[in-house]
Amino acid sequence: MGSSCFFSFLSVLSLLIISPAVTALPLHTSSRWIVDETGQRVKLACVNWVTHLEVLVAEGLSKQPVDAISKRIASMGFNCVRLTWPLYLVTNDSLASLTVRQSFQNLGLSESISGLQANNPSIIDLSLIQAFQAVVSSLGANKVMVILDNHISKPGWCCSSSDGNGFFGDQYFNPDLWIQGLTRMATIFNGMPNVIGMSLRNELRGPRQNVKDWYRYMQGGAEAVHSANPDVLVILSGLGFDKDLSFIRNQPVNLTFTGKLVYEMHWYGFSDGKSWESGNPNQVCGRVVNNMMRLSGYLLDQGWPLLVSEFGMDLRGNSVNDNRFMDCFLGWAAELDLDFALWTLVGSYYLREGIVGVNEYYGVLDWNWSGTRNSTFLQRISALQSPFQGPGLSETSLHKVIFHPSTGLCVLRKTMLDPLTLGPCSASDSWKYTPQKTLSLRGTYFCLQAEGLGRPARLSIICTDPNSKWDIISDSKMHLSSTVGKDSVCLDVDPNNIIVTNTCKCLDTGSTCDPGSQWFKLVDSTRSPSYAESLR
Ligand SMILES: *[C@@H]1O[C@H](CO)[C@@H](O)[C@H](O)[C@H]1NC(C)=O
Ligand SMILES: *[C@@H]1O[C@H](CO)[C@@H](O)[C@H](O)[C@H]1NC(C)=O
Ligand SMILES: *[C@@H]1O[C@H](CO)[C@@H](O)[C@H](O)[C@H]1NC(C)=O
Ligand SMILES: *[C@@H]1O[C@H](CO)[C@@H](O)[C@H](O)[C@H]1NC(C)=O
Repeated sequence: MGSSCFFSFLSVLSLLIISPAVTALPLHTSSRWIVDETGQRVKLACVNWVTHLEVLVAEGLSKQPVDAISKRIASMGFNCVRLTWPLYLVTNDSLASLTVRQSFQNLGLSESISGLQANNPSIIDLSLIQAFQAVVSSLGANKVMVILDNHISKPGWCCSSSDGNGFFGDQYFNPDLWIQGLTRMATIFNGMPNVIGMSLRNELRGPRQNVKDWYRYMQGGAEAVHSANPDVLVILSGLGFDKDLSFIRNQPVNLTFTGKLVYEMHWYGFSDGKSWESGNPNQVCGRVVNNMMRLSGYLLDQGWPLLVSEFGMDLRGNSVNDNRFMDCFLGWAAELDLDFALWTLVGSYYLREGIVGVNEYYGVLDWNWSGTRNSTFLQRISALQSPFQGPGLSETSLHKVIFHPSTGLCVLRKTMLDPLTLGPCSASDSWKYTPQKTLSLRGTYFCLQAEGLGRPARLSIICTDPNSKWDIISDSKMHLSSTVGKDSVCLDVDPNNIIVTNTCKCLDTGSTCDPGSQWFKLVDSTRSPSYAESLR
């Protein structure tokens, strides 16, 4: 109880201090960073909101007023929505001319109509595109930025290799119509400052996909969007369900404009089948991260922003595959300080794949769109919702925070006398990882020291012994390991959130063990910890 008060007090405080008061739009890019007009980094912490299913209306409006949903998005710490739309919303006149009410009626969704009437009476008799604009306006009124994501052509659940929406030339994917639709959408929202980006096409895929056509059409789409609306970031996805951007390494994209290009990639547990569950988590994490760096992560080093525009998990926490993936993913996303869009906001769908009222277990809102599905998960991503570093954010000099992905917390000391614990990263101490592999508290003589199996790790001023040297070990490179006498130990967390050392987990090839509690990442940060220190 006491400690949860401490945390919530700190998180309110950190909101006050970290959140930039105003973002000077429009955005542009500066090497791998997305920055505002003043050159200050803006980290995109987005959530996906679905509008591409058959109804063509942003999900959830039968459950809650649009303004309540927008406010909820902001209060969960997101500064941005990736709003999905199907091409036909703006290219098929017989669809575009429908009102929201007619669209529900045509699909026999009478219960949703009464919900919409009750919660969003001002939207129900708008045309579909006007309703879409109303959602964007509501987000804008709540200072939430929007990325318009062309998710599919023909409205419906996405994506399979054979759904006719996968690649240029597929049954429902006429490239000319696509350019028309992108142009229309870019034009409609030209002048809406909170629309900061357009994601040109979601998850290119299927038997027709090829690199030559990718350049031809994506460059064409990018130019079309830029001429219709030069204020938006132009966001390009790769091949193979947005996993593969490796081809950019050999042939850069050739555009007439600069400072607006962002790449996007997707990554789920199921992107690698059941590997997480059937393999050794350290080995799988190491292998899959290396693969992602080769396919798309390398773009950061080449000076391009990379938005992870979809990732997510079953928030009930009962999928071993998803759980292990997320522990590894969050470490990676923190280390690279990535811009992201979580899949998904949606608590439930009006109609998905023929079923009414489908519960979305990956959704941060619950079925009713009234509460959050899993507050533990929101805590896990909260540290990633503000930038660790980047242009204009050097509040203090570069240091490390010790991030713990399975809780989303960081290693900190409450006072010199208390043992080290996990707490909000906004209150994290500043650590230095020295060439001698000690982890020292910046500005002090103290370093982190292991005391033995099952015992709390301590701060000490004797920093030359083997038990104050920390190696980053295992294929995952997420264990911090030291030596006490003859014991090799790993940093860990006990049930009371105290930092301890235990026997290192899963260093062999077993697949049944779970090293999650021992996974830490040393993350570069220039965030100021001063407000944390002022509380001590
Ligand atoms: C436009 O939408 C209507 C209604 O869904 C559909 O019947 C028609 O085939 C669509 N037209 C095109 C050209 O896709
Ligand atoms: C880039 O595009 C321009 C005009 O679209 C063209 O003239 C130029 O040759 C292209 N450059 C490369 C390297 O393809
Ligand atoms: C939330 O997620 C955690 C961790 O994955 C899980 O243990 C817990 O049961 C989940 N809570 C709910 C309400 O689903
Ligand atoms: C939705 O809300 C209603 C009314 O508050 C409640 O009775 C019901 O249990 C909720 N359903 C779910 C699935 O959360």
